Amino acid sequence: MYYNPYFEETLQKIDETGPIPEREPDRQIYFVKKMRKLVKEKSDQLGRPLTCFPQTFGCQMNARDSEKLLGILKEIGYVEASKEEEADFVFYNTCTVRENANQRVYGRLGYLNRLKRSNPELQIAMCGCMAQEPSVIETLKKSYRFVDIVFGTHNIFKLAELMYRRWTTGERVIEIWNDTNQIVEELPAQRKYAFKSGVNIMFGCNNFCSYCIVPYVRGRERSRNPEDILQEIRELVQDGVVEVMLLGQNVNSYGKSYGTYDRELDKQKRSISFAELLREVEQIEGLERIRFMTSHPKDLSDELIEVMKHSSKICRHLHLPLQSGSSRVLKAMNRHYTKEQYLALVEKIRREIPDLSLTTDIIVGFPGETEEDFEETMDVVRRVRFDSAFTFLYSKRIGTPAASMYDPTPPAVIQERFERLLREVQRISAEVCCKDVGQIQKALVEGIDEKNPEFVTGRLSNNIMVHFRGDASLIGKIVEVRLEESRGFYYIGSV
Ligand code: SAH
Ligand code: SF4
Ligand code: F3S
Repeated sequence: MYYNPYFEETLQKIDETGPIPEREPDRQIYFVKKMRKLVKEKSDQLGRPLTCFPQTFGCQMNARDSEKLLGILKEIGYVEASKEEEADFVFYNTCTVRENANQRVYGRLGYLNRLKRSNPELQIAMCGCMAQEPSVIETLKKSYRFVDIVFGTHNIFKLAELMYRRWTTGERVIEIWNDTNQIVEELPAQRKYAFKSGVNIMFGCNNFCSYCIVPYVRGRERSRNPEDILQEIRELVQDGVVEVMLLGQNVNSYGKSYGTYDRELDKQKRSISFAELLREVEQIEGLERIRFMTSHPKDLSDELIEVMKHSSKICRHLHLPLQSGSSRVLKAMNRHYTKEQYLALVEKIRREIPDLSLTTDIIVGFPGETEEDFEETMDVVRRVRFDSAFTFLYSKRIGTPAASMYDPTPPAVIQERFERLLREVQRISAEVCCKDVGQIQKALVEGIDEKNPEFVTGRLSNNIMVHFRGDASLIGKIVEVRLEESRGFYYIGSV
């Protein structure tokens, strides 16, 4: 659990019977204290603690948001349940980047409603990217009245206040903000892993790739103050974290616009680039590894390549979404680079950092994509030879420019191309993935091997996993492992 010193101090001091503070984070700390009382009363009455269960969909940002929500719930007095059937408070932190994610959420909400019959204490919250869509809110209002609290991506820090409103009015609470420039620091977070953590460096996205809904549901891009990021990482390291993943939809544009804060921080305010931020994070003693997600190819700077090249902590892995290999499609996607520019960038990166593992995202079936366009993508895949690639079928998202583009291609043709691409990606991946057999490399041990309890799994700098003999005492440690055997997408090794 990450305790912020300011949070702790204010929680002690604040008078929860007094007036509601106007500024954040004090206002939320006030509601945490108020909720603590209510939760304590309830659990005394029931003769057991109240329990909660997080359910997270989507990307690393959502995973980190869930840790913040869980942090607030723990402060309020909830303990984590091992499954949702045993919880008194379940939240669904949702993703809407592709349509299929949405259907799953609706299905599962229905299931939760049935659980309410056996546990009358159960409260259900729905938040995240789906909740930012007006059509989803309409559906929830009409057909999912049993959902107790609904909030979006911009006001997750308000969980304690929204819960207090739900508990004291007895009415369903729906609060969605369209956008915000506000960043609220210093609230707690409950990490999933003791030894590694995501760290937001920026929120939102300004790129408006024509297929993508993220800018609409995550709002305008705003960076966190560098001092706050560095301070958070220092505190995480003190709490046992050895690896951080710096998170942003496009980390390469870090520092272009900053968020606003309620509480004036008497810290130095500076504007720095992502590469400079990395340099400073590298200086933090005790931190062993740095990762980041995601890099947009259009503004990956030479400075960043330099910093990566000379760093001993930045991992040898770069996720560089391609989306399409056709310059024509890339233009329609509003990606601001051509096939040639992408290939040149990869060549430059590989020249400077030869041991770097490269992964990517590719969309098949963008409106109007022809066989020729698709072949251009296959060509890039064959030339770059990615270590791995996430492939997606294009999904139409209402409100995005691509949603109104006409597509004459039959779905069966798109499906066939998708499968062709997948086969090619997997074939190449199997060839390049485990090329380091015989080497000794450092692995961060993440857990016990699910299939063999006498083995542990570790993550190499290049993001590939290695399985080797070991026990729970190794979890969270970085050990040197000999990579003995390739199993396609992972290694078998020994300490
Ligand atoms: N900010 C990140 C990606 C966020 S979404 C970036 O720019 O790289 C993760 C991936 O989902 C994207 O890279 C893209 O490949 C895919 N994606 C986004 N919108 C999609 C859509 N409408 N249909 C299919 N895949 C999509
Ligand atoms: Fe979506 Fe593009 Fe922003 Fe990534 S950079 S989140 S793909 S709009
Ligand atoms: Fe999904 Fe939202 Fe992330 S739409 S991919 S959870 S930013």
